Order: sequence, then C-alpha cells, then structure tokens
Amino acid sequence: MRFTLFPLSLIASAFAAFPTKVVYDSPTGLFLENIAVRPGNELLLTSVMSPTLHTLDPTTTNGILDEVYTFPNSTGLIGIVEYQPDVYAVVASKLDLVAVRAQLGSVSIWRVDFTGNTPRITKVAQILNSTLINGLSAVPGHPDLVLAADSDIGVVYQISMRTGATRIAVQDSALAANAPPPEIGINGLRVRGGALYFTNSQRGTFGRVPVTVDAGKVESVGAVEVLGRVEEAGQQFDDFALDPQGRAWVTRHPDSLTVHYPLSNGSWVQEKVAGNLSMPTSGAFGRGDKVQEQSLYVTTGGGQST
Ligand SMILES: *[C@@H]1O[C@H](CO)[C@@H](O)[C@H](O)[C@H]1NC(C)=O
Ligand SMILES: *[C@@H]1O[C@H](CO)[C@@H](O)[C@H](O)[C@H]1NC(C)=O
Ligand SMILES: *[C@@H]1O[C@H](CO)[C@@H](O)[C@H](O)[C@H]1NC(C)=O
Ligand SMILES: *[C@@H]1O[C@H](CO)[C@@H](O)[C@H](O)[C@H]1NC(C)=O
Repeated sequence: MRFTLFPLSLIASAFAAFPTKVVYDSPTGLFLENIAVRPGNELLLTSVMSPTLHTLDPTTTNGILDEVYTFPNSTGLIGIVEYQPDVYAVVASKLDLVAVRAQLGSVSIWRVDFTGNTPRITKVAQILNSTLINGLSAVPGHPDLVLAADSDIGVVYQISMRTGATRIAVQDSALAANAPPPEIGINGLRVRGGALYFTNSQRGTFGRVPVTVDAGKVESVGAVEVLGRVEEAGQQFDDFALDPQGRAWVTRHPDSLTVHYPLSNGSWVQEKVAGNLSMPTSGAFGRGDKVQEQSLYVTTGGGQST
C-alpha cells in the first residue's frame, strides 16, 4: 500500500502469457488498495481514499462500482480477505494519507457476510494499539481466525472473528520498517502450508516464517527466511496473491508484477510478468471457471509513477 495520489486508478488483469488488459478505469481517480474475489467472480474493492466498500463485475465492459457499505468513523479501507465462504474481514480506519498512518483508536476490523439475502456488516474488533493495519490473511483450517499485518510496529496480530479477541501472534524485526513513517514494514501476508508469507515494503523483501496454530494461538516456530528482494532502488513490494501451485504474484511499485517460485532444489527465483502497471497495489485470482482461475486481477493507484 502506498498513499501517493494519482489521477487515475484502474484494475488490470494479467493472464497466461501475461497479456494485460484494463478491466476498469475509475473516472474519479479512486485509488484502489486491495481486492477479494467473490465465488461468483464479482470483485470486492477497497480504497484508502474512501470508507465505502465497492463491488464490480469484471466481465462487463464499462462496468460501474456498486456500493456495498460505508463504514462509520473511517476515511479509508485497507486489507480485505475471505475467511469463510463468502464472508470477508475488512480493515477500516481514519487514515492520514501524508503520514501514512491511522489515528490511534480508529483501526477496526469488520465482518462482511454475503451468505444471506442482503449483506450483513458487523464490527468485530478494534485494534487499539495499532496505527496501521494493512494486509489481512485467513488461516487455513481455522475459519474463525484472521491475521492482520501491522506495518508500523512490524507485527502480525491474530483476531478471533467470533469473539473479537486480539493478540500479537508473530513479532520479528524482519517484519518492521527500518526507517520512520511514512515508511511501512510488513504489507501483505498469506498463510499456506505451515508458513506465513509476507512482503516488507521498506526493506524490499518477500519472505516467509513457519507458523503453527496451537490451542487457537498462531505462533512462529522458526526463523524468517527471505525468498526475494527488489532489485532496484525506488522499488517497493506491495500486496500479493498465492496461486494453487504456491507461486506468489507480487505487486511492485512503481509499475510491475513479479512471480516468485521455488526451483526443485528449494531456491526461490523471481520473474517479471508485467511492467506497465500504474502503481499496482494488490492482486487476486478470478473464480468460477478455468479462464477466470488463470486471470489475476490487479488493483492499482493509477496514473503515472513518480
Ligand atoms: C463512532 O464514533 C462515535 C464517537 O466516537 C461513537 O459514539 C460511535 O459508537 C462510533 N461508531 C461505531 C460504529 O464505532
Ligand atoms: C497493547 O499495548 C499494551 C501496552 O503496551 C500491551 O499490554 C497489550 O498487550 C497490547 N495489546 C495488544 C492487543 O497488542
Ligand atoms: C538451485 O539451483 C539454482 C539454479 O541452478 C542455483 O542458482 C542455486 O544456487 C541452487 N540452490 C541451492 C540451494 O543449491
Ligand atoms: C500494458 O501494455 C499492453 C500492451 O501494450 C496494453 O495492452 C495494456 O493495456 C497495458 N496495460 C496497462 C495497465 O496500461
């Protein structure tokens, strides 16, 4: 996530031999921050510049953003993740877009439940100590748990989406920024196969740490391993998506998307798959059929990079 203001925002989809196509271009220049894809392939989109959660059908040309809900006491939305079938966790906060921090006390985690006739939205938790919750992750096998990346202090919180109870699950200097605000540390995170994968924007790292869930508590059980780095000064990783093969599709400011994957000997490599995205912020795979499952929807801040 980065809060720099750009004139346009768009969603691009990257596919197979990696052609990209603009799916939606915001007429008002809405900075799109994060994305989840519903079972029927509608996109759920958050923006750091709007407290309203939007939905978009990516298969219609000139689609329009439909409003799902406007979160009270908030100016922007950041992470979003599906943690039970068609039930999502969303972070809402009062954001200072210059300091790139949220007002202390304003960071809240909400449940957005589409399983009924109309969406049901409820506040689950307030993360009182945090000045920036960024990405969210589900925890496979633990449908009540969500993990949340604190980009300011470099920790991962766990939140019980049933009770609202919050605790620090993983804390490591590799998750923190090595510079003061507006720099940010851990940005995106995903749990897969006993590891928590993450990006750290300021450090320019993509890595993982082994985790287990013991008596409902997520804990790290080993050292952080760096699997990839940005190659050039001025580049920063943002959020990412994991595909079924375990490859990570990582958005990289100012303009690219890289896929990171392990060789048979265990070493990870990275390849650039798109280079003309305008401040890509996050990605999620389509759903519903084979073509959609091989399409990656990428949100962007839009416009020119600086
Ligand atoms: C919004 O903030 C006001 C004033 O601090 C508070 O009374 C109210 O409960 C808050 N609403 C929600 C949904 O958190
Ligand atoms: C918030 O900070 C206080 C004081 O440092 C600490 O005792 C508490 O555990 C923290 N809470 C969470 C949820 O991290
Ligand atoms: C794995 O193979 C690659 C390519 O041959 C090589 O560069 C890398 O050093 C190897 N890693 C290990 C751990 O042997
Ligand atoms: C990237 O370049 C391709 C090929 O020139 C073009 O079709 C596509 O629209 C561009 N994507 C963006 C996001 O500008």
